[in-house]
Amino acid sequence: MSRSAHPAGPRHGDVLPEGHFTAPPADLNLLDPKVWSATVRRTDAGSVTVGGIDVRDLAEQFGTPAYVMDEQDFRARCRAWREAFGTGADVYYAGKAFLSRAVVRWLHEEGLNVDVCSGGELTVALSAGMPAERIAFHGNNKSKAELEYAVKSGVGHIVVDSYDELVRLSWIAQQQGVRQQILIRVTVGVEAHTHEFIATAHEDQKFGLSLSGGHAAEAVRRALTLDGLELRGIHSHIGSQIFDTAGFEVAARRVVGLLAEIKAEHGVELPEIDLGGGLGIAYTSDDDPREPAEIAGSLTEIVRRECAAADLTPPRISVEPGRAIVGPTAFTLYEVGTVKPLDGLRTYVSVDGGMSDNIRTALYDAEYSVALVSRASTAEPMLSRVVGKHCESGDIIVRDAFLPADLAPGDLIAVPATGAYCRSMASNYNHALKPPVVAVADGRSRVIVRRETEEDLLRLDIG
Ligand code: LLP
Repeated sequence: MSRSAHPAGPRHGDVLPEGHFTAPPADLNLLDPKVWSATVRRTDAGSVTVGGIDVRDLAEQFGTPAYVMDEQDFRARCRAWREAFGTGADVYYAGKAFLSRAVVRWLHEEGLNVDVCSGGELTVALSAGMPAERIAFHGNNKSKAELEYAVKSGVGHIVVDSYDELVRLSWIAQQQGVRQQILIRVTVGVEAHTHEFIATAHEDQKFGLSLSGGHAAEAVRRALTLDGLELRGIHSHIGSQIFDTAGFEVAARRVVGLLAEIKAEHGVELPEIDLGGGLGIAYTSDDDPREPAEIAGSLTEIVRRECAAADLTPPRISVEPGRAIVGPTAFTLYEVGTVKPLDGLRTYVSVDGGMSDNIRTALYDAEYSVALVSRASTAEPMLSRVVGKHCESGDIIVRDAFLPADLAPGDLIAVPATGAYCRSMASNYNHALKPPVVAVADGRSRVIVRRETEEDLLRLDIG
């Protein structure tokens, strides 16, 4: 097919249909550094490179779709978090955002710890050499087998989420003859301004023990008397993809308030608090995320001040960023398969992946950006919807975005900021094969998670 313009789709200046978009950008070739990883560049020849490698070479060598991860950017973000909090705090990378053995090694080298929330994540972290004492174990319904595995492995602490779990864990620790360090997860009653499915500190949801309902205090009472447990502190995670620091600040204040109550009731000063993850990232140029240093400064100061007022020794702080570290470091590289203009609406651009490699748009109405990366174009902006190849109309990757009107099958397009919660939430819907994760750094590329094959699918199907 020739690179002809598609006459039926809306263009610059047309009356546009309803949607989430703003005006088209002045130059579609520009790549906003807010949403693209640090080493992404458009070359003079027009194509895009990352870590010094042309995306066309990556597509040829590794195929599409593929997640392309910028190792240098990942490491820089780890360092930024560590430096922001300094030596008086611990940074646990939330493995649910994306976990692989290479990533665990990078985290280890950069001095971060890992938070896991399943036996599977724990296995990946341990198998890549993360010392068990630098791993925290989470979850609202950890199985008995997972708890036994975590205790036996010697994980640093387990974040307990219910009365049932307190008893279960106490029994398991006694069976194994150890005293397991724990934190208690509390619900601080903050309405985080984010999608309902990823807000976690309001009352009506499944996580934690409520502060206002007195359950947090009761869990502390029980934890202090149960054998096999050493209560180290309190944990709070208010939600995810949050831009406003106010919610974190209220949470910090309420957690310190609980520490003060615990001291008054039990004469015990708990030495740790974990304020969770949740810092938002830029998916489009309209998003304005906070920097780690900003959040570190305000949290550290609030904890210090509140502790001074309550006559408490300030506890050691830990945080659990996932998305803010890995999210911006990767993009998904797709090949365009079909370009279908719909009169008066928009142009549907179908790519070789879809909701199986990025479920976030369908699940949370997430917004993404997209760019043509195999070449530059001076064609008019064309209102587009990037869709996948799955058998449902909700299979949308980018709901509304502008792509050049000369877009054609065979072009490579990339969706930035897909490092978090895309590969980790990927599925085999329609027996799609999960894409590989390719790490690039300093002109070198390597697969860190290989593409699935049909043999992988058949290996599980033993019927
Ligand atoms: N700590 C705890 C206890 C968590 O539950 C989470 C995320 C994090 C830390 C890391 O949060 P982050 O810094 O990555 O926002 N699948 C959703 C996000 C679910 C988040 C679950 N918990 C999404 O794609 O937006």
